[in-house]
Order: sequence, then structure tokens, then C-alpha cells
Amino acid sequence: MSEQPEKFYITTPIYYVNARPHIGHTYTTVVCDAIARRHRMLGHDTLFLTGTDEHGQKIERSAAAAGKTPQQLTDEVSGEFRALWDRLGITYDKFIRTTSPEHKRGVQAMFTLLQERGFIYKGAYTGQYCVFDELYADDNTPGTLCPVCGRVTETVEEENYFFKLSAMAAPLLKLYEENPSLIYPDTRRNEVIAFVKGGLHDLSISRTTFTWGIPVPGDPAHVIYVWLDALCNYITAVGFGSPDPADQQRYQHYWPANVHMIGKEIVRFHCVYWPAFLLAAGLPQPKQIVAHGWLLFEESKMSKSRGNIVRSETILEVLGADALRYFLFREIVFGQDGSFSFDALVQRFNSDLANGLGNLASRTLSMIQRYFAGEVPYPSATFAHTPAEAAVIALAGETIAAYGRLFESFQFSRALETLWSLLSAVDKYIVEMQPWAVAEKEDRDTRTRLATILYTAAEALRIIAVLAHPVIPESTARIFTQLGLGDIAQTDLNALRWGQLNVGTRLGRIEAVFPRADKSLIERMQQMEEDRKHATDLAAATDVAEPPVPAPAPAPALITTAAGSDAPSGAAAGAPNQLTGGPHPPVVGECGNQAAAPIAPPPAPAPITIDDFLKVELRVGTVLTAEKVAKADKLLRLTVDIGTEVRQIVAGIAKAYLPETLVGRKVVIVANLAPRKLRGIESQGMIVAASFGEEGQPALASFLEDVPNGARLK
Ligand code: MSP
Repeated sequence: MSEQPEKFYITTPIYYVNARPHIGHTYTTVVCDAIARRHRMLGHDTLFLTGTDEHGQKIERSAAAAGKTPQQLTDEVSGEFRALWDRLGITYDKFIRTTSPEHKRGVQAMFTLLQERGFIYKGAYTGQYCVFDELYADDNTPGTLCPVCGRVTETVEEENYFFKLSAMAAPLLKLYEENPSLIYPDTRRNEVIAFVKGGLHDLSISRTTFTWGIPVPGDPAHVIYVWLDALCNYITAVGFGSPDPADQQRYQHYWPANVHMIGKEIVRFHCVYWPAFLLAAGLPQPKQIVAHGWLLFEESKMSKSRGNIVRSETILEVLGADALRYFLFREIVFGQDGSFSFDALVQRFNSDLANGLGNLASRTLSMIQRYFAGEVPYPSATFAHTPAEAAVIALAGETIAAYGRLFESFQFSRALETLWSLLSAVDKYIVEMQPWAVAEKEDRDTRTRLATILYTAAEALRIIAVLAHPVIPESTARIFTQLGLGDIAQTDLNALRWGQLNVGTRLGRIEAVFPRADKSLIERMQQMEEDRKHATDLAAATDVAEPPVPAPAPAPALITTAAGSDAPSGAAAGAPNQLTGGPHPPVVGECGNQAAAPIAPPPAPAPITIDDFLKVELRVGTVLTAEKVAKADKLLRLTVDIGTEVRQIVAGIAKAYLPETLVGRKVVIVANLAPRKLRGIESQGMIVAASFGEEGQPALASFLEDVPNGARLK
């Protein structure tokens, strides 16, 4: 009998379509993506849901301001989110849109269910509403400012449907108490409990002053409150409310979600309203609601009235998706606010990816290529096996366990730190074992020793790639291909252990996975953002005429944040908000801000820019060996130490230089040239030489000073 795989259902918030995606949205989405990828590698039946939140007055107004119908605007921006997720390699299984028929049907079914169970009544309401955040303010005084974004609220006077939230305080407190892991981290849990203990007021859940929403069943003059509509996406996406038995089965199978991942500003909606709706409807609760902090943008000119947006596209175009993903996981302590800067991004990229993982991959693989004709060599289990290998093997085992523990408890930064400690240990091991020196001695025993060293390095590289795969999927998949292995995503994480790399595996084509990023790229990305911002400003002036954004309210920081107490008329308004904190620094895209940003084309390339020049990686090296290539009178085969590794280079300089005169000589090589074969020998770079005279005689570039190996020419 085959065992059913464990199911795992994870969701992102659904994103408003009045603002274009920025790295704040990307953060939540890539975190979910990595978690989903890891669960798939653990063999779980994983469902990863994301989507767009498309109803409400805010969207209706943004569309009108842009001269579009709400449907046009939502189609456009929802498409942009989806396209960006596809570019970033986000492996969502389902993308829900709240304007889809399946969702509308499910929300109406939920409304009816709540009504049938006696939790909805009709009443009159007069209060202050912030359209921007789609929330009711605590303070019912006309002119009061929104507690989240500081905009002036509007007075709404309506006959509405109400949800009996006030009756839910005791059941909610019981729920929190019985499920201590429901809200993560604990700071959020404590805030939520304190908030509910402060008392809850009934919640207005319909509107009549606009039409862009889902009609209340049987009373179409009302549309359903956008947060009730939006929160239901988590169940409608898996089939809730559908008459089709297959959908009902899907709902039974996947619901409840294992993880709702959210930003801290929407904790109240997810940890108070959503559980209250589910309790009232008699439906199961999600297993965990996980709130992360905000991404802050440091010292940016962009943090003005329209919000300080950084776009993922800029980073994608310049450094690639994995650079951004790695940064977000490694640099931001999950659960806390963290700063983004292009400087820190490039620094992280160079230290951990280019010099770290990329370098380990290229030096290990190129030595296997060179010394073992590209086949994973047989390691010795006996005489050529030393305590140094035993230490690497032990550390790899410990890392597999520790990494899993940390990752699964949302400590991503520490998980990666642990993994990179293994990487550093392997680097150190290679430096100490000096395989290039071992290779010089040509007897059988040293060959076995060399095989053992390179097998150890390659196997550690495989394990590091597998563990890092959910975070940096694209580059680790490439490392796997270069290792001659198949689809990395198919690796069974439960069974991951030392020694699974098969001897004799033929390496794939070796190429740099993370070419080092030059500092000039920082300026380039900043410029791209400025250009995009400029395009946004122009577009805003002519297209989406957003109202000016007033200065943020002085107080809100945390979930606070979320709406006021939604008091209907007559209810005690202005109850002290327990969740209010101090002022907060500028936030990337904070509070769903509206900066609409058409994507500007990258700056037009000048004939040749410094960036173009810097694409060529010129490095200093020392020739270690030189010999003639058989049956090729112009070619020499050289091995060149470029500081981080030894390269084999085939150069057409045999007519100008005797091999023995080159050994020990400093040369300049093009280090990031794609490898190619000359007379069946792979050349991993090119030697730089002047060419003169009618015959094109070569003269090697050299220096008067003593320049260390690896120094870059720029
Ligand atoms: N539509 C609601 C959510 C409904 S879920 C049933 C909404 N949308 S939003 O477009 O404003 O996106 C909010 C989410 O985007 C946040 O909860 C967070 O996950 C992410 N982020 C937006 N800006 C962010 C930062 N500056 N930093 C980190 N995450 C941010 O609220």
C-alpha cells in the first residue's frame, strides 16, 4: 500500500493592483517560493498560492484616474505581477484573481454561510474610512487621519451589513491559547492577544457607495467589504463554494493552509478578522500565520511623497534573480525590519556568491576537468583518506541537519550562515590540501590522494547546492548540470547524505555561475531606478493622477497599523489602540503605496561604456607549466595560477615563445571567456598579447611592478 504524501499549503497575501510590484512584494513571494521548493524536495504534496486583490474603492478610483475601467486596470497590473513572478522563477501552483468567477462564487457562499449561522445583521453606520488602506478608523471625528498612511479619512454614512465580531473575542482568545504556534513570531502573537483583550466591535462588511466588488447575495445594492472578499481567496482558490465534487474534494484535501505568510502591517486582518470569520462559519483554522518585517530603503532620494520604491526588475536585469533572492534571505533577519541598499546587495553578491559558492564550484570542477578528464574521481577509503576529509564529511552531516532545523523555523539568515560555514571549511580544506601541488607529483599514490581531495570538494559542493537550491534555484541548478547531475529539484532531501555523488560521473560544460560584480554596477542600478522613477513621475503627471500623499501620521509602526476598531455608530469609538508603536523609518512601498511605475527601457548603450569594458574580466596570473601541443606548431598548453584557481589555457604563441621561457612569467588573461576546445584541449581563458608586424607576431602583456596573481585590470 503506497503512503499518501504529506500535504503542504502555503499562501502569500494577494497583492493590490493599484500599485506595481516592487521588492517588498517580491520579498514575501520569494520567501514562500523557497519554502514551497523545500517542501517539494521533501516529497510533500505542495500547493503554493499567490494572486491579486482586485476589488474595492481604491482600485475603482485608481482606474478612473487612469482613464481605464477597473477591469482594464486589474487585468494590466495583475498581468504584471504574474509576469514578474514568472521572470523571478516563482513556482506558484495557483494564481488567484479576486475578479475570477470561482472566487466570486466562493465569497458569496461564505457570506451566505455566515448569514445562515446568525453572524450577520443589517445596521446603520457613520464613521471615518480610509479608502487607501480600505479600513475604518478608530476615531469617528470627521477629518481624522488614517492611522496607517496619514491620509485624511472620508465620512461614510451607510446602511451596511455587519459581522458580529464583538461576539468573537472569547472564542478567539481560546483559539490563541490552545494553538500557541498559530501566530508567529511571538511578538505579533502577544500584540494580537492584547488587542483582542481590549475588546472588539462589530465590523461593517458591505458598502453601497461604489460598485467595484462582489455583490451581497440577494441584495446587490451592497458589495462585500474588500477584506472579507480578499481573505476568502485562501479557501476559494482550493475549491470552497464550488458545486463540483472534484473542487470540494480539493478543498477538503488542502484546507486548512499550513502557512499564511504576510507582512506585519496586515496582522490584524489575518490574525483577528480571518480566524473570526472561520470560527463563525465553522471552518478549520489555518495552522500558522507568519508575519515578516518590512523592507526599508536606506538613504534614498526616492523616499518622497510617492513612496521609495525599488523594483525587482532592475536587480534582475543587472545581477539576476538569485542575487536578489540570496540577499533577501541572508541579509534580512526574518521577522524584523531590514534595510535594502544596492551597496549591500553588491557586497553580498561578491562575498558570498561570486567569491564563495561560484569560486568553489569553478575551482573544484575545473580541477576535475583538468586532472581527471572531467570525470568524478574515485576517493580512497583507506590510506589516502586523512582526518581532513573526515572533518569535512562530519561537518557536512551536521550542516544538513542544522540547516533544515533553522530553515523550517524561519531562521533563513542563520540557515544560510551555517551553510556558508561549510563552504568556507571546504575552501580552507582545498587551500590546505593544495591539489594543484599534489598533481605535480606523478605517482600512483599521489593520484589517489588527488582523487580523494577532489571527490571531497565535489561532494561538498553537491550538498551545498542541494540545500541552497530553494533559495537560489537558478544558479544551483546550473552547478548541478556542471557536476553532470540531473534535475536538482528532484533530489530527495529526506535522503540527502554524504557519498551520493557517483564516481565516474561525467561533468557538464563548466562556466562561471556568478561572475564578480563590479562596484560600478551599484551606480548603474541606482541610475536605472532614477530613470524608472522619472518615467513614473511623467506617467503620473499625465496618466494616473493620484491625490497628493500627506505626511504620514506620526504614530503607526506595527500592526497597529491595521484598521481602527471599525465601530458602527453608537459603538464606543476611539478605544485605545493597543497596537500602536513609535514612528518608523521610510519603508519600501509601505502601506500599499501607489507609485505606478511603467518599466523604462534600460539606458541606451553608448558606443562603449565603462560597464561594457568591465564585462571583460582581465586578471594577472603566473605561468606554472608550458608545453607544446602535439601536431600544432603554433599552440602552447599553459597552466596559469590566477590566485583563486589554476587555469589551463591554449595559446597561439608557440612561434614567438619557447615553453621553458614562460614558466614563472606574469601574464594577463581574460578570465571570463567561455571555455572552448583547441585541438581537443579545453582552453579556460585567453592570454592577452599585443599583435604586431605583418605576421601578427604576439608580445605578451606584462608589468614592471610585482603584481600579485588574481589582481584585476581595470
Ligand atoms: N491586498 C492586501 C492583502 C490581502 S491578503 C488577503 C494587501 N496588499 S498589498 O499589495 O499592500 O501587499 C501587502 C503585502 O506585500 C505585505 O503584507 C507584504 O507581504 C508585502 N509588502 C509590501 N511592502 C512591503 C515592504 N516594504 N516590505 C516587506 N513586505 C512588503 O495588503
